[in-house]
Amino acid sequence: MIHLDHLRAETPGVTHRIHLNNAGAALMPNPVIETTIAHLRREAVIGGYEAANEAAPRVQAIYESIARLINATPAEIALTQNATVSWQMAFYGLPFAPGDRILTARAEYAANYVAFLQIAQQKGAVIEVIPDDENGVLDPAALERMIDERVKLIAITWVPTNGGLTNPAAAVGRIARKHGIPYLLDACQAVGQMVVDVEELGCDMLSATGRKFLRGPRGTGFLYVRRAMLETLHPPMIDHSAAPWTAPDRYTLRPDAKRFETWEKNYAANLGLGAAVDYALAIGMEEIEARCRALGASLREQLLTVPGAQVYDLGPNPAAIVTFSLPGITAEAAKQKLAEEGINVSASSPSSTLLDATARALPVLLRASPHYYNSEAELETLVTTCRRLV
Ligand SMILES: Cc1ncc(COP(=O)(O)O)c(C=O)c1O
Repeated sequence: MIHLDHLRAETPGVTHRIHLNNAGAALMPNPVIETTIAHLRREAVIGGYEAANEAAPRVQAIYESIARLINATPAEIALTQNATVSWQMAFYGLPFAPGDRILTARAEYAANYVAFLQIAQQKGAVIEVIPDDENGVLDPAALERMIDERVKLIAITWVPTNGGLTNPAAAVGRIARKHGIPYLLDACQAVGQMVVDVEELGCDMLSATGRKFLRGPRGTGFLYVRRAMLETLHPPMIDHSAAPWTAPDRYTLRPDAKRFETWEKNYAANLGLGAAVDYALAIGMEEIEARCRALGASLREQLLTVPGAQVYDLGPNPAAIVTFSLPGITAEAAKQKLAEEGINVSASSPSSTLLDATARALPVLLRASPHYYNSEAELETLVTTCRRLV
């Protein structure tokens, strides 16, 4: 249940700032902060290895919580440092040969796209962009028409960094499954603000980060790899924990998704991530999603009352990432002015989603990303302040 006063009382940051940069890094709630700090204190008092041993059952519980969050099993989850490393461990584990086709979305994230380019240059794979429908949303029918035996990967971003667009990730999954094509879903901006169910999505691999809508600590993330895919997906890099050294000339890859991890980890941050997942689950992802979408919609509506303001989010029922511009002031200058008034937003540059930004001739955009703990009054303050800036 969303009890706004209670949730805000558990979020120390809200007394200092109007934080509308949850797509950057959300404000952590007290249980996340306390769990993280408590483990660091324990490391200081009894030693890092000893503290990890002591916390072993709670470390295992992180995998169980994430599995519940996305309807997977704990063995299908790897803990990583961020969404990018998660994505890279999956992508670079796939084999590509000259002429292999990689199908992606127009709003693909820069980190993913440069990896496609690298593999295209090194292996001769071909990158192709799935066309959008008339609303700017990835068109599953167009994807279906592109499928042939040379398609070796479908890799798309569900919700991009530069707006509330919500691509039809489950429809893409149905096509990928029908044709037996590996499907890698960037769910970085979706996890924590939307219901995520890997069975419904039909994805084989899913990457996520801890610090954004999940409200976890920075430097955390996870990768999901479907059990059937685990058998064939080998990590591009391994250590002796991912693959124990079982004979002088041999290693044995772990059977579970921990094959994508390294031995050394930030236990404090990972435990904080576990606390963040439990926190979201206790509120309920359906309620979180409904409130996020409602706050996003309300903010868009209010921004359009600012003379000359433009809103850029595509598609029906967008997520809680609102991109907009104000007349007569650049996004960077407006961001700075808003910061001086205690309001955190970010500026989204064309280079983070270059294909989409080029196709739509987007300038640097202001990005406000509310979360369920933001109040309606905070959104109004943002809009009133924007009105003063123009
Ligand atoms: C859509 C998308 N994918 C991936 C990432 C990368 O996430 P991380 O910085 O955790 O690696 C981001 C970050 O903004 C993003 O918006």
